Amino acid sequence: MSIVVTGATGQLGRLTVEALLRRGVPAADIVATGRDTARIKDLADRGVVTRRADFADPDSLAVAFAGAEKLLLISASIPVDERLDHHRRAIDAALTAEVPLIAYTSMTRADTARTILAETHRATEEYLRERDAPAVVLRNSWYLENYTGQLPLALQHGTFLGAAGDGTVSAATRTDYAEAAAVVLTTEGHTGAVYELGGDQAFTLAELAATASAATGTPVAYTDLPAGAFAQALSDAGVPAELARILADSDLGLGRGELFTDTGDLRRLIGRPTTTLADAITAALR
Ligand SMILES: NC(=O)c1ccc[n+]([C@@H]2O[C@H](COP(=O)([O-])OP(=O)(O)OC[C@H]3O[C@@H](n4cnc5c(N)ncnc54)[C@H](OP(=O)(O)O)[C@@H]3O)[C@@H](O)[C@H]2O)c1
Repeated sequence: MSIVVTGATGQLGRLTVEALLRRGVPAADIVATGRDTARIKDLADRGVVTRRADFADPDSLAVAFAGAEKLLLISASIPVDERLDHHRRAIDAALTAEVPLIAYTSMTRADTARTILAETHRATEEYLRERDAPAVVLRNSWYLENYTGQLPLALQHGTFLGAAGDGTVSAATRTDYAEAAAVVLTTEGHTGAVYELGGDQAFTLAELAATASAATGTPVAYTDLPAGAFAQALSDAGVPAELARILADSDLGLGRGELFTDTGDLRRLIGRPTTTLADAITAALR
């Protein structure tokens, strides 16, 4: 059996490869792919097969996906207007290679969410249906790391900034999402499923601040801003303008409940409670 993972040079892909190894998949049955395989040489040293796969280069995809029984297609971290073409090329290559199952990492409520990010995921899911692809959709909510990564700045300034109002987000760790992906790739009965994956305990950004305060002993607040002001604050902090616009737009979606899920799909797939915000903050502080 060969399981191909795209984006293995990135964080979620690498964690999924690690989770597959932990689940006992022989290293030689895992194909870790990325645009630059030098970045996953350590995986090759452990016996994992590494191949170059660039969504912009169909020839590389044909080679990378050959012989795959399962494919984890991780959405690309590139400008949003290029993502759909990339995903379509990857799906086309997987169908040409007759891959029996494509697992695609999408986003919470991609079918109805109105954010810029959800649009590409919705279109990719539609393309999978249009092409009648044997697929399973892993709709991941936000990563907890999106917030733990902001801790140093939040502690320094005494506040998290956002534009999410009192919306709740079902964030979970990348490790938990990766473990769920590994379960889907190593067990049967997932074709056609759409999993809404998120943490067991959704939280507001004010609750995020309260949890950070309790964990650190440093008072941290949450400051809710109009989306434009939030995007400007991100730009001022060095975030590229386009990304700042997308992040502010995502916070508006969060406020509308578009990153909230209470399906329990993640917990069920990984067979344990999801990592809590408090535990993720404690781990990040270490
Ligand atoms: N749920 C969330 O909170 C959240 C947050 C951010 C992003 N995301 C989405 O989830 C995905 C995985 O997250 P992550 O944290 O693992 O992101 P990441 O660390 O940035 O990894 C993204 C991966 O996509 C690969 N990629 C980019 N362009 C590609 C192309 N043309 N062909 C093939 N691969 C390409 C990258 O390869 P290179 O090493 O070659 O660049 C990298 O391996 C992201 O790509 C993004 O779509 C979700």
